[in-house]
Amino acid sequence: MATVRLPGLIDAHVHLREPGYTHKEDFYTGTAAALAGGVTAVLDMPNTAPPTDTPERFAAKAALAAAKAVCDVGLFVGATTSELDAYLPIAHRACGLKIYVSETFGSLRIEDLGLLHRFFRTWAASGKWQAASGKWQVAGSESTLADPQSPVPDRRSPVAVHAEELMLPVCLNLSHLYGVHLHVVHVTRRSEIELIRRAKERGYPVTCEVTPHHLFLSSDDLSRLGTRGDMRPRLASPDDVTALWENLALVDIFATDHAPHTLAEKAQATPPPGVPGVETLLPLLLTAVHAGRLSLDDILLRCVENPMRIYGLPTQPDTFVDVDVDARYELSDARMRTKSGWTPFAGTPVFGRVEQVILRGRQVYDGERVLAEPGSGAVLFQSA
Ligand code: NCD
Ligand code: ZN
Repeated sequence: MATVRLPGLIDAHVHLREPGYTHKEDFYTGTAAALAGGVTAVLDMPNTAPPTDTPERFAAKAALAAAKAVCDVGLFVGATTSELDAYLPIAHRACGLKIYVSETFGSLRIEDLGLLHRFFRTWAASGKWQAASGKWQVAGSESTLADPQSPVPDRRSPVAVHAEELMLPVCLNLSHLYGVHLHVVHVTRRSEIELIRRAKERGYPVTCEVTPHHLFLSSDDLSRLGTRGDMRPRLASPDDVTALWENLALVDIFATDHAPHTLAEKAQATPPPGVPGVETLLPLLLTAVHAGRLSLDDILLRCVENPMRIYGLPTQPDTFVDVDVDARYELSDARMRTKSGWTPFAGTPVFGRVEQVILRGRQVYDGERVLAEPGSGAVLFQSA
């Protein structure tokens, strides 16, 4: 048995479903599952019901998270066709702006080039909007500008896009044109990672993330998994998976896109796309370390350092995760803490059992039980 002490992991892409879909997950169950997986901070997506697209809805969601979360939570605002610029007054409280450009679950989708263009332009200018109010927030620390008219630093938080195929070059070019940091979530295809390579080589302000399911599963697994293997982007071909591994140096973040739906919903004629993942991130990646496909540093770079840098997250003092990296077991639905109660990796043998999690000096998970009180997790960026 070899216990290794790691920093708390960050899952920069989760759907905790609150408000609106609490039969799938809520802020308590989703963050408790995170802790059991060695994750001490998550960034929550805006495709709830209602979506997180106005100051009122953002505040309501932040209050729910503050009351229930057991790990730290950052919240995205979402681009919607109905509310347009309504989110601007709270842009600085969000970890980023999420734009769904490709097919997804929920009501958020921007398909119109004019609108897409508008969101990039407005996000680029949102720093100036904050300057006009005399406040500027970078990397979690607020500073008051002596002269609200003085130049402001570029916004740190990115526009995160779900942009597949032809929509990817559109978004890459908009980010270049407006000087907006673009973070491309769940990259899956060879053509997409190669475009990102080209954009990075040309100095475009772009970063990207890949999910464990797109690294460890492919379209070859679909017949075995059935609708449990249905998510957006869809599982790609083995050649696409090979391309992701070949281009790992370009992948800034591993994030799960934890997108829980119940098994009853997955059994419907038209099942919603998405798979849970927040608690299987670490064992899957540690298993790749055992197989010699990744190093521990590869994990820490993409699950701690880069998410902190890209989203300007505050450090969590006295926070660590003890994991027995040699413990071997099988992932199973029964062991999952997500309210959805299943994993697409059921039956997969893995290495790496989380023995305890300490968050800000307190033991919040002891290897069996989540000990943290609901509301002990912090909602990030709310002080401004
Ligand atoms: C996500 C969900 O269920 O919210 N589903 C998915 O298949 N990834 C939506 C999304 O991230 O696009
Ligand atoms: Zn997602």
